[in-house]
Amino acid sequence: MASPGNGLLKGKKGIIFGALNESSIAWSIAEAVHREGGSFILSNAPVARRLGSLDALAEKTGARVVWADATNGDDLSALISEAKEAWGGIDFMVHSIGMGLNVRKNVEYEELNYEWYKKTLDISAISLHRSIQACLAQDALRSGASILALSYIGAQRTFSKYSEMGDAKALLESIVRSFGYRLGKHGVRINAVSQSPTRTTAGSGIAGFDAMFEFADRIAPLGNADAASCADYCVSLLSDLTRMVTMQTLFHDGGFSTMGISDALIADLSDALT
Ligand SMILES: NC(=O)c1ccc[n+]([C@@H]2O[C@H](COP(=O)([O-])OP(=O)(O)OC[C@H]3O[C@@H](n4cnc5c(N)ncnc54)[C@H](O)[C@@H]3O)[C@@H](O)[C@H]2O)c1
Repeated sequence: MASPGNGLLKGKKGIIFGALNESSIAWSIAEAVHREGGSFILSNAPVARRLGSLDALAEKTGARVVWADATNGDDLSALISEAKEAWGGIDFMVHSIGMGLNVRKNVEYEELNYEWYKKTLDISAISLHRSIQACLAQDALRSGASILALSYIGAQRTFSKYSEMGDAKALLESIVRSFGYRLGKHGVRINAVSQSPTRTTAGSGIAGFDAMFEFADRIAPLGNADAASCADYCVSLLSDLTRMVTMQTLFHDGGFSTMGISDALIADLSDALT
């Protein structure tokens, strides 16, 4: 259960990308940031206007919505201009954007459609670079600002059905490191949060998602982390309490990433084998 607010983000202003509906990780992050006293612009691709319910979240959190395709430099410039006009600069940015076109269409890794693959990398990873570049072009990041990107352990280990998205997340995590070095001189930090499988629109677009979810849940000592606990962790990373943490991929996965096998999985497999 979410704790009551502690004003950890009081006075901070930022941008949250990627809230589509109540199950979105970014939706929970927006609620938690609001609870902690932060203000933000909610942004999503124009197509999400008819697919999701962002206006309802905006109303609930006192945020404004700016529609921007995160693969489009002009859209991002206009978004950053709005933030600058409103606040003079921003203290945080949350990138919670992902889409695997081949994965959605069940195209095997050996047979990737390269136009879709490029689009997957553009949407899911390069958009992080673009959004930071757009901020730097307008000198919009205040010293002390914190940037977060949502990742998955498929960036570092092979999860067969995650396919091209593993490549996209590997690129995303690399951008976190490459930009982390350069943002340091602005006093800005950036980290990736590697989250447990979570039941969302993007998550359910992956074939075999339920099996991946159950597998992780049986192995992680604390079980899978849900979106609300991810949001609480993100609050800590957007707050000044973590001001010296940068360039990291931080696992928020109930311990899954450090496990090999668990008694629960051994029991399940033993049953299946007898
Ligand atoms: N669900 C999981 O199991 C899981 C696990 C680890 C990490 N993640 C990551 O968390 C992030 C959020 O995903 P989610 O699971 O909350 O699903 P979601 O579907 O709710 O969010 C994905 C968002 O990306 C947005 N988006 C897609 N194309 C865009 C574009 N061109 N411009 C701007 N926005 C665009 C969508 O509109 C949507 O709001 C993603 O990076 C995802 O890979 C998800």
